[in-house]
Amino acid sequence: MNKKIFVLPGDGIGPEIVSQAVKVIKAIDSAFDHKFDLTNGLIGAASIRDNGEPITVKAIEIGNKADAVLLGAIGEPEYDNDPNIKVRPEQGLLKLRKSLNLYSNIRPVIMYDLLKDVSPLKIENLKDVDLVVYRELTGGIYFGEKKLSDDGKSASDLCSYSESEITRIAKMAFKAATLRRNKLTLVDKANVLETSRLWRRVVQEMAPKYPSVEVDYLFVDNAAMQIVVNPAQFDVILTENMFGDIISDLSSVLTGSLGMLPSASIGDSAAMFEPSHGSYPQAAGKDIANPMATILSVAMMYDHFDMFKEADAIRDAVNWALNENIVTEDITKDNPSRCSVVGDLIAHYIEEKGYVNLNKRYMTEALNAVI
Ligand code: IPM
Ligand code: MG
Repeated sequence: MNKKIFVLPGDGIGPEIVSQAVKVIKAIDSAFDHKFDLTNGLIGAASIRDNGEPITVKAIEIGNKADAVLLGAIGEPEYDNDPNIKVRPEQGLLKLRKSLNLYSNIRPVIMYDLLKDVSPLKIENLKDVDLVVYRELTGGIYFGEKKLSDDGKSASDLCSYSESEITRIAKMAFKAATLRRNKLTLVDKANVLETSRLWRRVVQEMAPKYPSVEVDYLFVDNAAMQIVVNPAQFDVILTENMFGDIISDLSSVLTGSLGMLPSASIGDSAAMFEPSHGSYPQAAGKDIANPMATILSVAMMYDHFDMFKEADAIRDAVNWALNENIVTEDITKDNPSRCSVVGDLIAHYIEEKGYVNLNKRYMTEALNAVI
């Protein structure tokens, strides 16, 4: 199989984590006899430096023609801390999502037994947690009209949604629920926001078409509390753009580390895969970031291509690395591995189809490179 992948490492730890994901794609090529074409491009602060804009028209064109985009992370502190800067790294990501019409952002929260004691939550509350967030990605307050008054003393961001924008992602979420535990929770703020009331109406009208799915409605403040107190009650969470951004970071805490949460952004034609976390600038260049969220996003990419064996091979390899304590410092303080070593060993495990002996010289050398 031959697929074209457009690789956008981005900022901060982006290049390091994406390098590990690329090793994994190459390992899958070799283990399953595929030939994926990888093209690199710029986005975010990296693109502003080279091109004066956070993404170029050319990059969007390449993204549109590719079978998938693999993205690292976006953002740099010099922009975060200066509200007066007009050209910002994040605009590149938002423009790309919008141009490729990637309206459905899927963020699965998968628990790993080995990580339960890393989570700040009580282990007994983490039993049976298996949820997925369906976050609307191309509408709402992120994309509404933004205004700053001439005197700079007042500002506004418009939040708007249309019925069709809600229906298309709700369809995906309902369908996912039918393939999972048949439960869908719409998270909104319908007691205050008109857009949320529209979301509720649309979802209520769609519900009868999915009779097996039990539909629940929660206000976002209550949902945030419930995710911490009783996360096992959730199956599919459907929500608008900004609530989804917040809820997904919050949910990632359940897994023990934001570095474990992958994501897929899907539209009617294009698809993009990126970790849910940010660019973690404090760690940039130090080879300490956790590459697993990006590697697991690559597994979602193979799922998207209906290459399920390949996706499973990646997940098996990640599980193996967790079992062998080949993990970065966000997960263990006990002899953490470098980001590049985690990538090397996961790729090696895939290439060797699981026949890996950690005592072999290659492995010993790799492990010796730990911090
Ligand atoms: C995410 C990120 C982005 C978002 C930022 C980088 C614009 O936080 O993908 O969750 O808010 O969507
Ligand atoms: Mg976010």
